[in-house]
Amino acid sequence: MNHDLVVIGAGPGGYIAAIRAAQLGMNVACIEKEKDLGGTCLRVGCIPSKALLESSERFEAASHDLKKHGVKVGSVELDLPTMMKRKDASVTALTKGVEGLFKKNGVTRYEGSGTIRDANTVAVGDTVLTCKHIIIATGSVPSMLPGVEFDGDLIGDSTTALSYEKVPGHLVVIGGGVIGLELGSVWLRLGSKVTVLEYMDQILYGMDEELCKEALKIFKKQGFEFHLGAKVTGARTSPARKGGRCLVSAEGMDDIACDRVLLSVGRKPHIEGLGLENVGIATNKRGRIPVNAHWQTSVPNIFAIGDVIEGPMLAHKAEEEGAACAEFIHGGHAHINYDAIPGVVYTHPEIAGVGKTEQQLREAGVPFKAGKFSFMANGRARALGDTTGFVKLLAHAETDRLLGAHIIGPRAGDLIAECAVAIEFGASAEDIARSSHAHPTLAECVKEAALAVHGRTLNS
Ligand code: NAI
Repeated sequence: MNHDLVVIGAGPGGYIAAIRAAQLGMNVACIEKEKDLGGTCLRVGCIPSKALLESSERFEAASHDLKKHGVKVGSVELDLPTMMKRKDASVTALTKGVEGLFKKNGVTRYEGSGTIRDANTVAVGDTVLTCKHIIIATGSVPSMLPGVEFDGDLIGDSTTALSYEKVPGHLVVIGGGVIGLELGSVWLRLGSKVTVLEYMDQILYGMDEELCKEALKIFKKQGFEFHLGAKVTGARTSPARKGGRCLVSAEGMDDIACDRVLLSVGRKPHIEGLGLENVGIATNKRGRIPVNAHWQTSVPNIFAIGDVIEGPMLAHKAEEEGAACAEFIHGGHAHINYDAIPGVVYTHPEIAGVGKTEQQLREAGVPFKAGKFSFMANGRARALGDTTGFVKLLAHAETDRLLGAHIIGPRAGDLIAECAVAIEFGASAEDIARSSHAHPTLAECVKEAALAVHGRTLNS
């Protein structure tokens, strides 16, 4: 055998699995088809989008908000090429970082597409690797929509929307999910008119409904135009058209002319060319690879993690699975508490949740108490001038155990970490309420929401 473990894919799931396995003493190879390591997240997902979200937020602050702080900046101008260069530099620093980590940990990297030939053989071009174990971590690709004439340019996906060379006059976003709202926010702040067409009657379907409703109100105020219950049936480019070069059609609506279209209707597992048929691994109805509680596929020495299996398509979920899967292969034990994996939307305000939503608890008939605290009543939020939103904690009505936490507001993505730890440790609302939170911090809202579960907030 060449290797103890071959990992296919070097995204957050795959590269973490490779590093953890190497730490545990395995001889590890990682196959990645792209020149740069890090997967969708580092190259064309989380990192570049957050870089642009940060830059666009600063542009907007300089244009509108700084004067409230008594800071006069004169005329503000957008330098899009520099903004894009900064984004690219943050990506390069991180992808190079993964390369360095592979070297440090002795992970052998193969460039090319990996194809499983049999349970112990993976081919990369002309190279054939033999191994004891395989981890599939090939991630996901954007889903297409019938009737949408995707060209990767005027009608493009999230990757396209990370690199528009000029600000579109009118951007139509198909799908009011995470990608649509994050990248929609970037271009809205930089000056585009942004219209979101969403099939469901709410945005961010799956998150706690109270947060979704609040978010919709806030985003509308920011200038987003929403059409909910809008089923998009087609999009095409139409060069001579007045009002933009693209036309988007949705059931029961007039066609919308616009300059660019962002298709963001979800992602699907990336399994093409992987050779699953060679080892008899079948996907489920949703195109995902079925695995047991230890990420084993129907072939016991072939594992799958991250976006190719069930669960939310999140980098940190894949990372947890990568590390745990390597530990299981090594020692036969590993466990992930999927209830303690947070989800964050990096709009302004940020939206974050962990554990169960109110809807899930109601459906399951679990008795719970909710405690809510608004950022409006928080000293630090006032000082920041960022008082929109609230923290909502859901605790079991009898045991007081924290079951869910949902936050919309400043730095919600950072604040949710405390709640995830609390859920992981089986904490009660009382535990959070009795823990000291530094003053003045936004985190005090979490403490106050915990106090609110028992009707005893101190600051509202
Ligand atoms: P999504 O699943 O979040 O949202 C897609 C939306 O498109 C849904 O609301 C759906 O109802 C809508 N849709 C589907 N068909 C439609 C049609 N014909 N017409 C109108 N609307 C339609 O998917 P999205 O935003 O593409 O993101 C893909 C994945 O990437 C998600 O799983 C997400 O978790 C992940 N992601 C996570 C981020 C984060 O954690 N901050 C950031 C970006 C992506």
